[in-house]
Amino acid sequence: MAKPVRIAIIPGDGVGGEVMSEALPCLDWARSRGRSMETISLPYGASHYLATGETLPEAAFAQLRDRCDAVLFGAVGDSRIPDGRHAEEILLRLRQGLELTVNYRPCRPLMPGHGPDLDIEVFRENTEGPYCLQGSTEPGRAVDLAIHTEPAIRRLLQAAFQRAATRSRPLTLAHKANVLKHGHGLWVRVFEDLRREHPGVAARAMHADALLCALVQDPTAFGVIAADNYLGDLISDLCAAYLGGMGVAPSISWAPHRPFRCSALAEPVHGSAPDIAGKELANPVGMILSTALLFRHLGWKAEADALEGAVKDALSDGAKTPDLGGTLTTAAMGRAIRDRLPS
Ligand code: NAD
Ligand code: IPM
Ligand code: MN
Repeated sequence: MAKPVRIAIIPGDGVGGEVMSEALPCLDWARSRGRSMETISLPYGASHYLATGETLPEAAFAQLRDRCDAVLFGAVGDSRIPDGRHAEEILLRLRQGLELTVNYRPCRPLMPGHGPDLDIEVFRENTEGPYCLQGSTEPGRAVDLAIHTEPAIRRLLQAAFQRAATRSRPLTLAHKANVLKHGHGLWVRVFEDLRREHPGVAARAMHADALLCALVQDPTAFGVIAADNYLGDLISDLCAAYLGGMGVAPSISWAPHRPFRCSALAEPVHGSAPDIAGKELANPVGMILSTALLFRHLGWKAEADALEGAVKDALSDGAKTPDLGGTLTTAAMGRAIRDRLPS
């Protein structure tokens, strides 16, 4: 029998736990179809930090890195920790410590007739740029450093070029090299290198400000969009709006160079949504579609297709949470999706 896949489960804060509760039965469903999997639940998040002083202990990180294959993550963020220290030491530590360079955020309509007929896939670099968290604050002066390195840029852009080539989609690099001459200048140089190596891909680099205007005017003109960590964060939230908002957008990050056993992290694009947490209002679709992306990453294509299909069927049948104009609770939406899964 194949060795079981080991998945670390981190629900995190706010709606993270609520939407994770609807993803876990989807793992059980995959198991019931013969997928061999072990899960390990980890308590890290704001409440654990406030109770114990621990964010993500180094020993726990090392175990996860060396003994798990992937992480399924809810969200972090809590107003009781205004400097967001735990979010940095948990989520950014996972992204950076596991070298999960590629953050993939697809944006495709979830039901027929729902918004423009777009097919956008954002490839966001996930470990560098201003997220290196180096800087300083003095009275009246503040500095945030942004570090960009060629290996990470190349890995991210290679993944984006490959995807554009495989799917015959146009590729656009978002950058501001007209101002950020050093960091984004490097992005453009690596992009031009790879463009020469991929003559079959319709690739162009665009200033990010002009790109955003064009993206709002006609999102159907875009295919794969590659960006650094900061611009990719902004662009992917804009794209989520086309799908119906933050509640439905999925993501997965991976390490193409596979430096460690644990080489993927699936999480919705949204955060802990404190404004709706505890009210059963959260949409579990982003979390469940992230679970489908994890299945696909693991090579479980039939389960990934079925889960995405069940989400589309539920939405097309009118099952919706309030963010999409419906009345279902988080749990009822989760059930509506699971009811449409094949046995
Ligand atoms: P957010 O994504 O939590 O919420 C933005 C808006 O989207 C809110 O109106 C919220 O109600 C709505 N929303 C989010 N998830 C939803 C869902 N599942 N269903 C329905 N509506 C949903 O972003 P924010 O308010 O800017 O940040 C809140 C906290 O989350 C902050 O601490 C922030 O740092 C953190 N955050 C964490 C992640 C993450 O863990 N990956 C991502 C983004 C923000
Ligand atoms: C996201 C979030 C995070 C980010 C925050 C919580 C650090 O906005 O996952 O998109 O900026 O990457
Ligand atoms: Mn974000």
